[in-house]
Amino acid sequence: MEVIIYPDAREASVAACDRIQALVAAKPDAVLALPTGNTPRAMYAELAKRVAQGELDLGRVQIFMLDEFVGLPHDHEQSYHTFAQREIVGPLNLRPEQVRVLDGTASDLPRMCAAYEEAIAAAGGIDLCVLGIGQDGHIAFNEPSSSLASRTRVKALTPATIKEQARAFGEAQAVPRHVVTMGVATILEAKRIILLAFGRSKALVVAKAVEGPITAFVPASALQMHPAVTAMLDPEASEDLRLQEYYQLIAALTPNET
Ligand code: GLP
Repeated sequence: MEVIIYPDAREASVAACDRIQALVAAKPDAVLALPTGNTPRAMYAELAKRVAQGELDLGRVQIFMLDEFVGLPHDHEQSYHTFAQREIVGPLNLRPEQVRVLDGTASDLPRMCAAYEEAIAAAGGIDLCVLGIGQDGHIAFNEPSSSLASRTRVKALTPATIKEQARAFGEAQAVPRHVVTMGVATILEAKRIILLAFGRSKALVVAKAVEGPITAFVPASALQMHPAVTAMLDPEASEDLRLQEYYQLIAALTPNET
C-alpha cells in the first residue's frame, strides 16, 4: 500500500483532489465511488472550488455513493442522500442523475442492492473509490466481521458505530439500526482506491488497517489485498504506524528512486 503523510489534512485533501482531476482529465466519463463523513469535506470543497473556477469539468462523471441508512427519508438531515445533494451535487455543479445513492427506503432492499451492483457494472466498474474509515475499521458501512467477499447488502450497525453516529443524530435512539452498503469485495474491485484518514482518533485504526493482519475484524485491512491503494494521511492519523519513517522516506524520493 502506498502511504503518504502530508503536512496537514488540507494538503492531503488537495492531493486527493489532484488525483481525481488527473483521472477525469484522462477519462472524462470516469466512475467514482465516494464517501460521506467529515473526512472528505475539504476534498469536496477543493473540488467545488476548481469547478467554480472552470479548472475542472465533472459533467460526464458518474458517482456512486458508498452507503446509506435504512429507513431514513431521503430528505432527512442525516441521510446520505442529503449529504450527496449538499456536498456533491450542488457544489460540484452536477446533474442529480450523475450521483447515485443506495435507496434505504426501498421495499425490497436485497433487490435494490443487486440493482446497484448491476448499475456499477453497467457503468464499466469503479475507476476510483475514495474511502474514509470508521474508528472500528469499517469502510463504507462494512462493520467488523463483514465478509471480505461481501457485495452490496444490508448490514446492522455495531453498538460502537451507533454511539459514534448518535452525536450527529442527537441521540442513540434516533440512529437507524441498519444500513445498506457496498461490500468489501465491491470496493476491492475498484481500479484505484484512496483511503483518507485525519486526526489522532484515527491513528490506531489506520495502523491496524495498513500494518495489521488482514482480518474481517478490521474490514479496512482488506485494502492490503488491492494493488493500487493510497492512504493519504495527516501526521496525527499516522502516529501509530510502525514504519512511519519509511513512508516519509519513500515520499521524499523521486519516483525513479523508489
Ligand atoms: C460513516 C460512513 C463511512 C465514513 C465514516 C467515517 O461511518 N459510513 O463511509 O468513512 O463514517 O466518518 P468521518 O469521516 O466523519 O470520521
